[in-house]
Amino acid sequence: LNNGVARTPPMGWNSWNTFGCNINETLIRQMTDAMVSSGLRDAGYQYVVVDDCWMNPNRDSAGNLQGDPSRFPSGMKALGDYIHARGLKFGIYQAPLDRTCAQFFGSYPGATGSQGREAQDARQFAAWGVDYLKYDWCSPSGTIDDQVRTFARMRDALAATGRPIVLSINSNSIHTKTGPQRDWGDVSNMWRTTEDITNAWNTGQTNGYPMGIQNIVDVTVPLAARARPGAFNDMDMMEVGRGGMSDTEMRSHFALWSILASPLIAGNDLRNMNAATRTILTNTNLIGISQDPLGLQATQVSFDGTRRVLAKRLSNGDVAVALFNQGTATTTISTTASAIGLSGGSFTLREAWTNATSTTSGAISASVPGHGTVVYRVSGGPGTPTSTPTGTPTAVPTTV
Ligand code: GLA
Repeated sequence: LNNGVARTPPMGWNSWNTFGCNINETLIRQMTDAMVSSGLRDAGYQYVVVDDCWMNPNRDSAGNLQGDPSRFPSGMKALGDYIHARGLKFGIYQAPLDRTCAQFFGSYPGATGSQGREAQDARQFAAWGVDYLKYDWCSPSGTIDDQVRTFARMRDALAATGRPIVLSINSNSIHTKTGPQRDWGDVSNMWRTTEDITNAWNTGQTNGYPMGIQNIVDVTVPLAARARPGAFNDMDMMEVGRGGMSDTEMRSHFALWSILASPLIAGNDLRNMNAATRTILTNTNLIGISQDPLGLQATQVSFDGTRRVLAKRLSNGDVAVALFNQGTATTTISTTASAIGLSGGSFTLREAWTNATSTTSGAISASVPGHGTVVYRVSGGPGTPTSTPTGTPTAVPTTV
């Protein structure tokens, strides 16, 4: 969507994965502060997204949405001001049809959907200072064409406010897994490719509920051609730092979300991250690959059922390559400079986790632990710049 925002995959934090419906303004303010004090803001995270259950179950007498007065007594505008004052941006959740997902499932009262009131609600969001709208279908009914029309109405209503607002959609929820079925970049900046994520490596789902990390990668890799500035495949809010996975799996999760150009929306409790989690979420090599201005998603170079090689072309001529081991045993994964689109005689490899560099005349290879991912940034060769890659960081700790 060419609305001037999300030219690279949006980065931020969302309340749902850890807190579900248990949210209030104190919590969101604490998370905003933690985003600053933990270094996430300085690493590039911007959006503080308040997910479901912020709303008053009843609109006011003029039909305006309002925050739940017991959870957000200072009001939504004040929350937006608090977030903006700390150099961050304000995101909020809403549903088009009568109910949000929590309202649909009965875990939250009311029916506050925006359908038919798009202009009024978009103006309300803009007045609160909203910079990012997560707009969630949450209905078993409707065709894909209905979804397109409905999302487009909010797209147009947001545009009419004059405020730049990222439009994040989920066409899947309580619906028939519509995310992969079309390119949603005409009606949104980011669209969920699957059902909801959970903090597990593999749930055995192909696109049902809930999805593990591996399962979301399987669905999203084939959709690479859709990613471009302003329009990204959304692999869902991250589960890094939520337990349920080894550190190797969490590193893979973050590496894959980065190279596949998914939005990087943390879902953990930022107030008490351990060092491993913070080191993963702030890895500047991977964030540099994620935020490359070309806005490309890595495409698949090879896959033998266990060893998957993905490559993403970067704006300075470098190529990022991921060697992803989907098996459980350590294995060597190999590719070549020519297989990832580079020609010439000599290349530098910078490994994302250790920041170690090495040179090669073409072979690209690593021993990768089960469920692990090694990422190299490959530079050099005729026709590609040999200068230090843009956004290349200072040292990253070798152990996390
Ligand atoms: C759906 C979405 C989730 C979350 C919940 C809130 O399940 O996919 O990301 O927003 O609704 O109820």
